Amino acid sequence: MTRFAGRVCVVNGAASEIGRAVAARFAAEGGVVVGVDVIGHDVGEQSVQADLTDEAQVRALYDDVVATHGHLDVVYNNVGLMDRGDLSLLDTDLDTWRRVQDANLTSVFLSCKHAVPHLRGTEPSGGAIVNAASFLADIGAATAQMGYAAAKAGVVQLTRDLGVHLARSGVRVNAVLFGPIDTAAQRAVFERNPGALDKRLVHWPMGRFGTLDEAAATVAFLASDDAGFITASAIPLDGGITEAFTVPD
Ligand SMILES: NC(=O)c1ccc[n+]([C@@H]2O[C@H](COP(=O)([O-])OP(=O)(O)OC[C@H]3O[C@@H](n4cnc5c(N)ncnc54)[C@H](O)[C@@H]3O)[C@@H](O)[C@H]2O)c1
Repeated sequence: MTRFAGRVCVVNGAASEIGRAVAARFAAEGGVVVGVDVIGHDVGEQSVQADLTDEAQVRALYDDVVATHGHLDVVYNNVGLMDRGDLSLLDTDLDTWRRVQDANLTSVFLSCKHAVPHLRGTEPSGGAIVNAASFLADIGAATAQMGYAAAKAGVVQLTRDLGVHLARSGVRVNAVLFGPIDTAAQRAVFERNPGALDKRLVHWPMGRFGTLDEAAATVAFLASDDAGFITASAIPLDGGITEAFTVPD
């Protein structure tokens, strides 16, 4: 498939496993990938180190992408932060709360704010934004990191509003509600808490993690013209977790 042939695709938070998988998928389908992360990395035809919570850096990033490549077509906002100090609300301090909101929500706000003026100029299909959210935005959990879940719920609402706001401009905005995807970071959370994975798995209808290929394919679908009539939506990628009351034995 060459769905992104000639398209300039920015992947923010590109150094993580899902970020790398999405960048590889865009490139495999012909995209010119610009990988961006706060840590040093080698993802993309152009690899940029930038802090997505810093407005001056975000503005400069998109100005530079368009100056270098001539246009901007796709933005995937993958930046995320799960902070060990982000616990029950009663046990979370204000600095942690702000750090978690900044990384998970403010980064998406800034990225969209400074990408949209460039995406609007894309011809003929219009541009696409895909935001990484979480199934935790849609469901309560006794174990959830509450700041993270609140931030991801903010990402979903920002996606909805922006998608509707831009609906006639040709720019589509969607989110992915990731369930547990098989990354080292996700596995490490369970490894730190013996027995926790077994307790969780009984609530997962499919009884397994999602794969990186499934994550990348879903983001690529939403970013492509195949999803041309989908905007302002949040697509669950969670093996049915948020839809299930009881699960198979
Ligand atoms: N892995 C999962 O199972 C899962 C489940 C639900 C949601 N998600 C969400 O999917 C996305 C990707 O998850 P992941 O596990 O691959 O990665 P991750 O959440 O571990 O990290 C994403 C990347 O963002 C970068 N980053 C953090 N702060 C940044 C900043 N200020 N500026 C620029 N880059 C910054 C990190 O360096 C990292 O490379 C995240 O938004 C995450 O919250 C993942």
